[in-house]
Amino acid sequence: HKDLTGISELAPWQILYLLDEAEQWVTLNRQPTKHVDALAGLTIINAFFENSTRTLLSFEIAGKRLGADVVNMHAAQSSVKKGETLIDTATTLNAMRADAIVIRHASSGAVRLIADKVDCPVLNAGDGRHEHPTQALLDALTMRQWLRGRGLEEFNGLKVAICGDILHSRVARSNMLLLSALGAEVRVCAPPALMPAAIERMRVTPFLNFDEAIDGVDVVMMLRLQNERMSGPFIPSAREYRHLYGLTLERLARAAPHALVMHPGPMNRGVEIDSNVADMIERSAITRQVEMGVAIRMACLDVLTRRARRVDGWALS
Ligand code: CP
Repeated sequence: HKDLTGISELAPWQILYLLDEAEQWVTLNRQPTKHVDALAGLTIINAFFENSTRTLLSFEIAGKRLGADVVNMHAAQSSVKKGETLIDTATTLNAMRADAIVIRHASSGAVRLIADKVDCPVLNAGDGRHEHPTQALLDALTMRQWLRGRGLEEFNGLKVAICGDILHSRVARSNMLLLSALGAEVRVCAPPALMPAAIERMRVTPFLNFDEAIDGVDVVMMLRLQNERMSGPFIPSAREYRHLYGLTLERLARAAPHALVMHPGPMNRGVEIDSNVADMIERSAITRQVEMGVAIRMACLDVLTRRARRVDGWALS
């Protein structure tokens, strides 16, 4: 397949390959000169139909550090606002002969729809509740580097608790798929109204009680309440939610003593995570996740454009 639309399409070795490829870009990004010409002459379009800070900027930085020409399309300033359909937008982008298109969209499946209409590789930057594959990859890279720092290599048996709005979260879905594919023991925790009905189809253990879910885990991944995707009557108050499902210092003490704290951002401080947990220098990986995001997106852009560049090595496309 030419695209990266979901973790569900990747075999475990392909996930590990992308993590391995990203390592070189972590190193490059820490140098004073963070630039190579690998993608020189290529054009990348970032088409974002939904807001973003981390994903949009890190894809833009990733493309530029690899030497590509990067242009951003914000839906709010585009002809989508005049009623242009998604398919017509895709056809328009295709006619511009981009070499890769990165898409974020509020509808699950919209990225696949566009990918099937364009010739170049399409990368999913988050589609509705479906998937956010580069987020799961950057989370995995963050975890793997942390494991290596502790003299460990493997995801096998790693206990990870993903807590929060599982129902609406594409980050949760991509992480569940990736971590279970690599052999981690994945627990998910949410209030009953925010737990997917079909959770038993995923290779994870569901919990409704947060204290039980984080008992002894190695990694606690907190998620934000996605109020913008809630259509039913259930929108808990921030106070209520923090009381039952917020990661406080007291709650974190139930996890393993070495446990790593993660959050994809944006955070709602004082709701799903307290500031004194999010800002713990020795335990919180939240800013490291952002750093790994640039390296992962460089790896994905590099690998997906290899066929067009006639570069040797495994290419997704
Ligand atoms: N984690 C994430 O996708 O953040 P943005 O919405 O800011 O891109």
